[in-house]
Amino acid sequence: MKLLSIFFLCLALFCAVQGQARGTIRLVRNGGFSSSYTSGIVQIYYFNRSSTTNRWGNICYDFYFGFLGAEVICHQLGYDGVSTYGKGGAMFGNDRAATILNRVNCDSTSYLTLEQCSFSTFISSTCTSDTQDVYVSCYSTRIWNNPYSGQIRLQGGTYSSYGRLEVYCNGQWGTVCDDSFGATDARVTCRQLGYSDYSTYENLAGSSSQPIWLGRVSCWSSFNCLSSCESCPSSQYQNCTHSQDVALGCQFNSSYFSSTNTLKTCKIDPPTSRPTRPSSGGSNETGVTVGSVFATIFGILGIIVCICCWCCCCNTEDWCK
Ligand SMILES: *[C@@H]1O[C@H](CO)[C@@H](O)[C@H](O)[C@H]1NC(C)=O
Ligand SMILES: *[C@@H]1O[C@H](CO)[C@@H](O)[C@H](O)[C@H]1NC(C)=O
Ligand SMILES: *[C@@H]1O[C@H](CO)[C@@H](O)[C@H](O)[C@H]1NC(C)=O
Ligand SMILES: *[C@@H]1O[C@H](CO)[C@@H](O)[C@H](O)[C@H]1NC(C)=O
Repeated sequence: MKLLSIFFLCLALFCAVQGQARGTIRLVRNGGFSSSYTSGIVQIYYFNRSSTTNRWGNICYDFYFGFLGAEVICHQLGYDGVSTYGKGGAMFGNDRAATILNRVNCDSTSYLTLEQCSFSTFISSTCTSDTQDVYVSCYSTRIWNNPYSGQIRLQGGTYSSYGRLEVYCNGQWGTVCDDSFGATDARVTCRQLGYSDYSTYENLAGSSSQPIWLGRVSCWSSFNCLSSCESCPSSQYQNCTHSQDVALGCQFNSSYFSSTNTLKTCKIDPPTSRPTRPSSGGSNETGVTVGSVFATIFGILGIIVCICCWCCCCNTEDWCK
């Protein structure tokens, strides 16, 4: 029993290190996978109708699948867009994995993950053949090649859904310190990348050449962009070492709303227009607002009380008649 739990612990750790979580996608050639592939047969790590256990499976190229879906797949892999896509993909060898998604239907070329599209795990009988598997060939340019301030990316992981969290500030990519980084922060960060949830957050050391840009990340669950939680600093964060760099894994989780973020959401929504967070002390601005609301309410109440008194008095007191 003990041995079994150790085994499962190791398995869990292995999965965390590997970074394969629900919704992770990868490109496969001749049955093998490499994070450097820009083209191949698409596999997604997902569950099926009969089991909630995730496993690698293919996506069906059916009536619903098209350019938008292929474009979104490339975005989720961190590439700029799709150059070619199709079904079968014999040039990439045999891929005998079962079909796990079909009816993939995307509304926008600007979406970031397949979770933002609709799809079904009830596989149509016309979708079970390997000749229906979706393959894509993505442009090798990365979606972060022309970065904006506050853009984020996951680096150094086996899959695109996992890696060291990096943020672009002051014209340079830097890391995020874990000193106050928690579950809500992890989820908001994954939402910026188009996922609904995080799968793991931990340390991933080994980026000594970069500045540490963020260190007191404190998000509200309603935020969609990391820059709404903590804006780019003017200088690098001094109180952390690179051994505290945040590594993050993201996943699909239907318990949470899927992210509506597109390629541009966090670019258009810069820190300056972020929702104001009421501070615990209450700034003088909110104080004035609350004060005037109370003044108005008490004023109206006072007038009502006066009118009531006057009416009552008039019914009983002679001086009023
Ligand atoms: C669903 O997944 C389970 C395990 O992940 C597998 O044993 C089963 O064959 C799958 N069912 C179908 C219909 O693909
Ligand atoms: C950095 O750490 C020192 C000592 O632990 C502390 O006094 C200081 O307030 C910290 N600075 C910031 C910006 O957190
Ligand atoms: C999805 O989120 C719920 C609620 O936080 C959690 O209980 C569940 O484990 C998550 N699902 C996965 C696959 O991690
Ligand atoms: C109060 O508001 C003024 C004007 O908006 C601002 O300059 C000042 O810093 C504020 N004071 C506090 C304590 O928030």
